[in-house]
Amino acid sequence: MKKQNFKGSVMLNPTPVVLVTCKNKEGKVNIFTIGWVSTVCTKPPIIAVGIRPERLSYEYIKESMECVVNLTTKDMVKITDFCGVQSGRKVDKIKHFGLKLDSGALIDTPSLDISPVALECRVKSITPLGTHDMFLLDILNVKVNEDIIDEKGKIRFDKANLIAYSHGEYYGLNSKPLGSFGYSIKKKKKKK
Ligand SMILES: Cc1cc2nc3c(=O)[nH]c(=O)nc-3n(C[C@H](O)[C@H](O)[C@H](O)COP(=O)(O)O)c2cc1C
Repeated sequence: MKKQNFKGSVMLNPTPVVLVTCKNKEGKVNIFTIGWVSTVCTKPPIIAVGIRPERLSYEYIKESMECVVNLTTKDMVKITDFCGVQSGRKVDKIKHFGLKLDSGALIDTPSLDISPVALECRVKSITPLGTHDMFLLDILNVKVNEDIIDEKGKIRFDKANLIAYSHGEYYGLNSKPLGSFGYSIKKKKKKK
């Protein structure tokens, strides 16, 4: 296929889209939307997020050095978009949607009850990069809804109705898996 070259730009698509809860030193809680998020290390579990210094949430996270990364679902698309276009400086986004907060298990910052999976994180480092600062976040604890845990204790992400973000659009992950990790080299079981 003939290719066209575009100048270097952020075209890593799709990305997760998450709602981050954060708390300032006076105890005020805010939420905002993040698309620039990725796992960067398994052990210890670390994710990286890109946050613009002008966000209110940037201030809150820098004050407490912790936050919760709440995964988003099909039922949360409107909340996800709204929290990404309205600042907590003007609107109390939690009140606006009447969102229920769950207290943190290992940190002081609450998670969103509506989210099926919430990652409680502590800030490991902050690196200015340009428009955004990169926050490396240690994942200290993960809260998972019981309704997506099966009888064997496996987390059924396929039942969580998670959404992704690609080039300005939100997508549901409706389709069946196209393959499982390592399927390409898995040997077929011999018939006896
Ligand atoms: C889909 C989506 C993804 C976003 N991703 C980021 C991001 O990765 N980093 C960031 O700083 N802002 C991101 N934003 C913008 C913030 O969420 C937005 O400016 C928000 O209003 C900040 O709220 P706050 O001022 O209450 O903290 C995103 C917005 C949307 C809608």
